[in-house]
Amino acid sequence: MITMSDMVIPGKKVKLRPKEWGDVQHDYEWARDPELARLDATLPVSLTLAEYISGYGEELRRPSQGRYRFAIETLDGQHIGNCMYYDLSEVNKQAELGILIGDRAFWDKGYGSEAICLLLGYIFRTTNVQKVYLHTLDWNIRAQHGFRKCGFVIEGYRQRDGFNFILMEVTRQQWEEKESQFSASLESSPGGDNSGQPQGK
Ligand SMILES: CC(C)(COP(=O)(O)OP(=O)(O)OC[C@H]1O[C@@H](n2cnc3c(N)ncnc32)[C@H](O)[C@@H]1OP(=O)(O)O)[C@@H](O)C(=O)NCCC(=O)NCCS
Repeated sequence: MITMSDMVIPGKKVKLRPKEWGDVQHDYEWARDPELARLDATLPVSLTLAEYISGYGEELRRPSQGRYRFAIETLDGQHIGNCMYYDLSEVNKQAELGILIGDRAFWDKGYGSEAICLLLGYIFRTTNVQKVYLHTLDWNIRAQHGFRKCGFVIEGYRQRDGFNFILMEVTRQQWEEKESQFSASLESSPGGDNSGQPQGK
């Protein structure tokens, strides 16, 4: 049986854990942030905190089917972002991945790519998914670099609602080739800095 502590996925800079109520304030701030919304090809949330909390509680109580969300924390427990997989298809054996590092102090320092690799490892270990894919804006170079570091490759181009997206995918086999390299990087030096301050690569 999988317990909640099994759901904590530890890395060297970050750990992934199930979403919880305490995340609501950060999630609300990030959802209202115009730059973060633009990077995700969406509009900033215009709900009041009370309205946002109401939908938030519902999702925590009854998560959407085929959608699994994790908080991204530094090793000392600072909530810096979220990641998830969704649209999990048993038939097509695939799922889509999404990620947000909401705290800009942690951009470009390897936190995002480590979270992506940890989530990929978890998906391929615990499901029968054969392929994980995502869409990212064609000008979001930081995101594309981060995804590439975890084995994603460009598979196509899509237009939706006036936005140009790149479709990136990683197959189970491609991940398995990447995984030993990633596991070795986790073992290369013990733990991370526990100061809570963003550390360089
Ligand atoms: C996208 C995101 C998850 C990446 O996480 P991150 O921790 O910032 O990224 P990483 O440091 O792991 O990797 C980013 C890489 O891109 C590189 N990079 C960043 N901007 C770049 C640019 N303009 N040109 C070239 N390389 C760039 C970084 O140097 C780094 O590569 P390196 O490790 O080889 O030096 C995070 O920045 C984020 O959540 N941003 C806001 C929301 C978003 O864009 N979400 C993705 C939607 S699909």
